[in-house]
This record gives sequence, structure tokens and C-alpha cells, in this order.
Amino acid sequence: MAFPGPILLKRIPAEPGGRHLHRYDDYVATGGYESLKKALAMPPADIVKLVVDSGLRGRGGAGFPCGSKWTFLPKDIHPRYLAVNFDESEPGTFKDRYLIDYDPHILLEGIAIAAYANSITTSYIYIRGEYHREAQILEEALAEAYSHGIFGQKHAGTEFTHNCYVHRGAGAYICGEETGLLESLEGKRGWPRIKPPFPAIAGAFAKPTIINNVETLACVVPIVEHGAAWFKAMGTPSSSGPKLFGISGHVNAPGVYEEELGIKMSTLIEKYGGGVKGKFKAAIPGGISMGILATNQYDAELDFDIGKKYGVLGLGTAGVIVMNDQTSLPRILRNIVRFFSHESCGQCTPCREGTSWMHKILNRIVAGRGKPHDLDMLLELSQTMGAMPGTTICGLADGANWAVKTFLQKFPDDFKAVVKSPLVAGVSVPMAVTVSGAAAAPAGV
Ligand SMILES: Cc1cc2nc3c(=O)[nH]c(=O)nc-3n(C[C@H](O)[C@H](O)[C@H](O)COP(=O)(O)O)c2cc1C
Ligand code: SF4
Repeated sequence: MAFPGPILLKRIPAEPGGRHLHRYDDYVATGGYESLKKALAMPPADIVKLVVDSGLRGRGGAGFPCGSKWTFLPKDIHPRYLAVNFDESEPGTFKDRYLIDYDPHILLEGIAIAAYANSITTSYIYIRGEYHREAQILEEALAEAYSHGIFGQKHAGTEFTHNCYVHRGAGAYICGEETGLLESLEGKRGWPRIKPPFPAIAGAFAKPTIINNVETLACVVPIVEHGAAWFKAMGTPSSSGPKLFGISGHVNAPGVYEEELGIKMSTLIEKYGGGVKGKFKAAIPGGISMGILATNQYDAELDFDIGKKYGVLGLGTAGVIVMNDQTSLPRILRNIVRFFSHESCGQCTPCREGTSWMHKILNRIVAGRGKPHDLDMLLELSQTMGAMPGTTICGLADGANWAVKTFLQKFPDDFKAVVKSPLVAGVSVPMAVTVSGAAAAPAGV
């Protein structure tokens, strides 16, 4: 099926200054809360099956199948919770904010359906600390929804009781990691937890908890409305449905655009992003943790298989950052590593020390004081940090690993030019040949 046009963004005005439809009455007048009505007439297990059949994969970064996650909840343990991940701190990512700015009720409807389907009595929307305006928008939308019986006692006229709260974070990247989020939600320092137990078994307040991204839950609304087959007909066999793509960097029209999964990056940039400003050099496919796409990977298909095919970690948040040929990649990588070093929570030695040393090394490289072995040392550090699972508690360290190794392997000349090293990054020591994924990338990587 050809992409039929905006689904999640259908209430967002096409023209700047167009009328917002974010109030309850506008939402209902444009078909809102019809999916909830439909869901409430179905047995909860049928809704879970619908989501499984749709092939919906998590939109928060990892791409885990949403329906399977829902089936992991133990049958007999209550209460159980839903934690909505609206931390959105991955650099280059602003899709959830855009959706909530214009259409907060689509998230609330997705939450209400997910709660009913999974017998959840309390949901928390964990929102990034800096998102002041969106917190206010959500509070207002929630008050409207409560006043119309969507939440609270006898949920939407049924015997089901479900409450929903907005919980504001304090501004830390690591609170987007799902167990860091749970710790923060419980009022503690946002330190990721060692797993197992996984949140579905022991999550918030040690009770079974589902954690889903904002966009994932928004997708549940059209799935209930149109059915699993309709959703699966969009995208690719392993990556179904519509997707919000953020485009930023050297493009003429940065923004959030909706398309089906599997669209070529070049098409996305040219059709929606107004084309590259200057000559394309590289792009980060989905937030800085994913690594970098090389110049000859401009046509990469943006779906959940991108990692295997193009030697990056994955699609991540689909926040595409475009860079032209005037970009200094050593400087970009220095900024990326500075971010990870600052945001590392410090629990795991390879992450705490590794990101900090990478930052120091890259600082001296961009200052023109790089030493001959610096590039190889960066690769060695990155290999130590990427040895997941086992050496670190969460994925932050692996994100730093993928950034460093793909920048160095795909653009060695950019780094050799500033280090003026007689050694060749990744060749003078055998690190690069052991790096998974890169070998499978097309020629020229
Ligand atoms: C360091 C780190 C930061 C993360 N930040 C976010 C975030 O801001 N928002 C988000 O939805 N997921 C984030 N994730 C992914 C979550 O841990 C989790 O996979 C996701 O919320 C699950 O929801 P989904 O299955 O609907 O995608 C992050 C993961 C890591 C390792
Ligand atoms: S990998 Fe880094 S951010 Fe994650 S828990 Fe360990 S130290 Fe903290």
C-alpha cells in the first residue's frame, strides 16, 4: 500500500499559523476517542492480539515489538503500571514534542487503550524536565479528558478505573533509559537498574510495568481504528506502519515529517527536508547513539534493519541529522562524546572512564595536538565500551562506542588529516576488523 498521507500528524496544520486542533472538542470532532470506544467493546486480550498482529515496534529507540512486551506482564500480579517515556533527550530528536504540541489527546487515547488492554490502573507520563510548555499542554488535555470521563473512576462509562498523571523529570538524558526513568519516577537518582528483573516483572514500585514511548502509544489509536492488516501494509515486512522522522542539520526545511518505514533517506531529505544545503557528506540516522552513515549510503532505507545493512547500531529515534561537505567530523564527534561523558551516570567503569577519556583525546585532536596513537586508542576504548551485554548496565556506553567506531571507520581520512598520524585508524591495530556490522556495509564504507 502506498503511504496514504499523515496518520499521526493528521491534525497538525499543513501551513504555519494554521488552526490548532489540540482541544478535546476539536479532537472528538475529527474522530478522536472513537478507537477507545471501539476498544472498550472488545475483550482486552483481543486488543493485545491486534497490536501483536500489527507488528508495531517501539518508537523510542530499540524497536522492540510492542505487543510482545505487553504479553510479558504476569497474569496474576496487581497493581500494574504504564510508564510513558516522554523524556526525549536523544540529540537530534524532537518528534514526540511536536506531536504533543499539536495533538496531546492522541497520546491520552493511546494510553487509555493500552491501560484497558493490560488491566493497568495507573499510568505516568514521564516528561523531560525542559519541556515546560508540553507539560502544561498535557496537564490541560488531561484535565479535559478527566472531565469527560476518559480517566478516573468508571473509565469511559465502564467498571474499569484508571488514573493518569504527568510526572516531570529534572533534565537528565539517562532518565530516558527505561529503568533510569523508573528510579526517577520513584523519587530516586536516575540510575539505570541491573536487569533482570525486567520492568514487565518488577518495574515501578517493584510491580509489573510497561514502558512505552509516546509515538508507540499514539500508533495504537489508528491500529484499533483501521486494524492490524492496514497497519502492516505500510512499511516493510519487519518494520510496519507510519513513522515520525525528524530532519535537522544541513537541509533547507528541517522539521518533523511522517512517512512509512523503509523510505530511502535521500527521498525523505529531498521530498520533505527541502534537499541538502550544499553537498551531502554524511548523516546520523536516528539520534547520535546510532553511529554515522557514509557518503555512499545516502540512499539507505530507514527501517529497523538499517543496522545490519549499513553498519550502524539501528534506526534509533529516526532523528536524521544531515551534514554537508563543509562539516568537520572530528569536531562533531568531539561534541557527541562530550555529551555522553557529561550524561554518563557513572555507575559502570567502562562508561564513566571511557567516555571521559574519549572526550579528552578528541579535545586534543581538534586542538591540533593529536598524538600518533590517538585514533587507535579511541577505537580500543570504544571496543571495550561496546562489549554489551556484560560490561555496562545500560546502552549509553554502546551508543558512544557506535558513534566513535563508525566515524573513524567510515571517515578515516578526516581524522588522519587532523592528527597527521602515520598510522591508519583501525588498521594499525586489528580493532576495526572485529567490529560487527561494518563488514556488511556496502563498498566504500
Ligand atoms: C541512554 C538511553 C536513553 C534513552 N532515552 C529514551 C528517550 O528519551 N525516550 C524513549 O522513548 N526511549 C528512550 N530510550 C529507550 C528506552 O530505554 C526504552 O527502550 C523505550 O522507552 C521503550 O519504549 P518503546 O518500546 O515504545 O520504544 C533510551 C535508552 C537509552 C539506553
Ligand atoms: S552504561 Fe553508563 S549511563 Fe548506563 S548505567 Fe552504566 S555508567 Fe550509567
